[in-house]
Amino acid sequence: MPRLRGPLLTGCAGPLTRCRPRRRRNARGVSLAPLRVALLFLVLPAALAAQSGTTGLGHEATAEELGAAGYTVFPDGKGLPEGRGTVGEGKAVYQQFCAACHGRNAEGDEAAALVGGRDSLTSERPRKTVESYWPYATSLWDYIRRSMPYESPGSLSDDEIYAVVAHLLHLGGIVGGDAVLDRETLPKVEMPNRDGFVLDDRPDTD
Ligand code: HEC
Repeated sequence: MPRLRGPLLTGCAGPLTRCRPRRRRNARGVSLAPLRVALLFLVLPAALAAQSGTTGLGHEATAEELGAAGYTVFPDGKGLPEGRGTVGEGKAVYQQFCAACHGRNAEGDEAAALVGGRDSLTSERPRKTVESYWPYATSLWDYIRRSMPYESPGSLSDDEIYAVVAHLLHLGGIVGGDAVLDRETLPKVEMPNRDGFVLDDRPDTD
């Protein structure tokens, strides 16, 4: 790449000479135009490959990798482990590990409210909580297992997660105080906003 220096290329010497447009340079005085062309050749094949779905990069995630990442619980309950928890047990778990951030009754504190807001979704200020917004109770199980408590995700046992989910759903008025949640009962819980979403059926969202 030639190095272009000095006033030669900058054009306008006086009113009678024709002005050449200035070429953009970086701090070291090197023209950027060839670089852009080079970039185009680098990016274009990648973009075309991406379009045809063959980037040649990476590999499809294996079941083990997905498991390790914690993406194992699906809305229909697939991936839920053995174990069970009651509302009462969950209250104790919640007070010990969650209340400090989410409030004593999950009404929100340092961290978001997890209950309430049910009638606010169509208002000017929707309050999106687990109770008011989340379409699947199974997602709550999955979320807590992967990310909560905030400072030590993965520290709760499966039983404790079933229990704390039961407690939160009870606080939200979604299950009764005698609910026992496990891999059979949790997917059957109907969340208030279950039908509040529309399916995006455009072909590229498959
Ligand atoms: C140290 C503070 C802290 C503790 C303790 C904590 N959380 Fe959280 N929680 C957060 C923060 C911060 C977020 C938001 C995280 C984000 O958006 O990435 C959050 C988000 C959540 C959400 C998602 C809320 C939403 O609507 O998006 C749930 C559910 C939740 N926490 C449940 C729990 C449960 C159950 C426990 C106890 C086992 C717990 N949290 C303990 C800080 C905490």
